[in-house]
Amino acid sequence: MTLQVEQLHPLYSAKITGFDMRHDTDPESIAALKSLLDKYAVCAVPHDIPLTNEEHIAFSALLGPVARKSSPNISGTGVRLPFNEIVDQSNLDGKGKIYPDQDKRLAYKRANRQWHTDMSFRSNRATWSLLSAHIVPPKGGETEVIDMRTVYDDLPEKMKTRLNGLEAEHCYWHSRVLGGGPEPTPEERATRPPAQHALVHDHPRSGRKVLYIASHVRCIIGMPDDEAMDLLQELRDIAVQPKYILSYEWTVGDVLIWDNLATMHRGTDFDDQNHVRDMRRVTCREY
Ligand SMILES: [Fe+2]
Repeated sequence: MTLQVEQLHPLYSAKITGFDMRHDTDPESIAALKSLLDKYAVCAVPHDIPLTNEEHIAFSALLGPVARKSSPNISGTGVRLPFNEIVDQSNLDGKGKIYPDQDKRLAYKRANRQWHTDMSFRSNRATWSLLSAHIVPPKGGETEVIDMRTVYDDLPEKMKTRLNGLEAEHCYWHSRVLGGGPEPTPEERATRPPAQHALVHDHPRSGRKVLYIASHVRCIIGMPDDEAMDLLQELRDIAVQPKYILSYEWTVGDVLIWDNLATMHRGTDFDDQNHVRDMRRVTCREY
């Protein structure tokens, strides 16, 4: 295996060629990939044809424990991809048809166009997400990523001191409604309870400090809501400066791997009524 690494953004991120997730599964290859992920936070790994669902799951399990669906689907969501490990991030219903514009399941998916970190609303958080491109729209639908270690490093010392020791509550439903989705039913709300995490944590592998915020953040523990929202807005405004953003343009067969404990990301708009974007995610978790 001979890897070529091309940096995609001046501060982080890389495209890795010469790595095939179907075959480069030995411990040395996995260790090499993890080192690159620790350094670059997000890595694109192109393949000529998309991984099968089985290949996607099998490779992800080599990086760490894989998240499996632990709660029922949103009411009415059909199962297009019958694998507990795969999160269907497409705009397709259970029968492979594009969701109508007013469909609440599409509204919840569109909420992922806000900046977020996957599974921050779980106590057992996501580590790496592996997103595989099966069909990409002709325009739009890029994935944007920010390395939140760099953002933290650049914060003024006064802000770093202010953030010290703060904990935030992350709630899946908060970001769904914020992103334009309807209020969940009580039954739906009960399937995804909130979780609390430090606003700043030490990245487990690189040792760097990370600003851990997301659209899932509902409040900061012990802080009045208006003050918390102002602080979060200020942090978000700092983080989403163009100089920090990688905008990744997809090609079918690409797998983009990002470290949720080091980054935040979002999907961008595309014409989801006339074009298909078929992306599938497998997510590793902390334990
Ligand atoms: Fe996401």
